[in-house]
Amino acid sequence: MAEQLLAKKTVRDVPTTGRTVLVRCDFNVPMDDGHVKDDTRLRAHMPTIEYLIGQRARIVLCSHLGRPKGRTPGLSLRPIAGVLQDLLQRPVQFCPDTIGPRARRAADGLLPGGILLLENTRFYPEEERNDPAFSRALAALGDLYVDDAFSAAHRAHASTAGVAAFLPAVAGLLMEQEIAMLSRLLDPERPFVAIVGGAKVSDKLGVLEGLLQRVDKLLVGGGMANTFLAALGHRMGSSLVETGHLRAASDIIAKAKERGVDLLLPVDLVVADYFLAEPDRRTVDVGQVPPDWIAMDIGPVTAERFAVALRDAKTIFWNGPLGVAEWPNFANGTLQVARAIAECKAFSVVGGGDSIAALNRLGLAGRIGHISTGGGASLEFLEGKQLPGIAALQDK
Ligand code: 3PG
Repeated sequence: MAEQLLAKKTVRDVPTTGRTVLVRCDFNVPMDDGHVKDDTRLRAHMPTIEYLIGQRARIVLCSHLGRPKGRTPGLSLRPIAGVLQDLLQRPVQFCPDTIGPRARRAADGLLPGGILLLENTRFYPEEERNDPAFSRALAALGDLYVDDAFSAAHRAHASTAGVAAFLPAVAGLLMEQEIAMLSRLLDPERPFVAIVGGAKVSDKLGVLEGLLQRVDKLLVGGGMANTFLAALGHRMGSSLVETGHLRAASDIIAKAKERGVDLLLPVDLVVADYFLAEPDRRTVDVGQVPPDWIAMDIGPVTAERFAVALRDAKTIFWNGPLGVAEWPNFANGTLQVARAIAECKAFSVVGGGDSIAALNRLGLAGRIGHISTGGGASLEFLEGKQLPGIAALQDK
């Protein structure tokens, strides 16, 4: 599978000079009152945009932002144009439409090396319906389609997949890099250790199953570990437990045993009397969660066991926080794991906003092999699923 993925044509494989290039980016960034709170994803697209500027292409950028139902002023891409302008140190024109005559005129008016940003693709319900008429209208704005939005490649939408039916479609440099790095996890150097956290096991059943076929050790923390612990018969107080998924958790435990995968679950927990940033809290052994108390983080013994399990790894994948990491009282497990990964010599891949935020907080992001811009997309990739945004691209 990895070889097939790497065999996609990229923007370097096709002539771009003087052409109008429609670039699908993922500018789905956290916003606060019209301000970009974290520009990581914007910066990740710079290599592709700068390459096209260097080629004197006419550049038409498009992206979604959030999950609007129709035009939603707070989710306009207009503020992104300003941030891109600062990052690129050159003008970025904004069009308040995504398709139609105004967008067409703006694209036609671009000079070589000029940049146009279109409005949020999801302001049009046709985008998520993967409507061919919408794809065609988008395609009419360029003569080449470059998909740089790896993190949206798991969506079969008009601008991520459908448009490829109407224009030659190739990968951008970020897309190329993500595929190359994540492919290393499909055929990993061993031992391969994965750490998976986050609130819900139901969101990650597929990836856990997929990982079980590849990893030597699987470390599970965060809210999702509660369902595993409950499946083993532990009382979890008022902790989030997905009772409808106890069977699935038991199956994963059984499969890990069958395959000889070392599955590490928390052995101690930091618990709180209320789901608050500053509640009463204590550390207890698994099985000792008082009635009505809530598991909020892995305990120190677990964090140490996880760190030890990572020590001899040659490949590491981490997705999802190990506790309620946005509250300092419950961030210890996540921060300890972030530190342990950064100290390892292994090739490491980290995906998901909270895990990346923990690395950034510790100033350790530079010590990670690859920080994936993809949350859901990187998980589906590791599940072994074909991502529509990648499948639509031309083979080399
Ligand atoms: C993401 O943030 O994971 C991507 O931009 C996809 O967004 P979506 O989950 O709203 O489709």
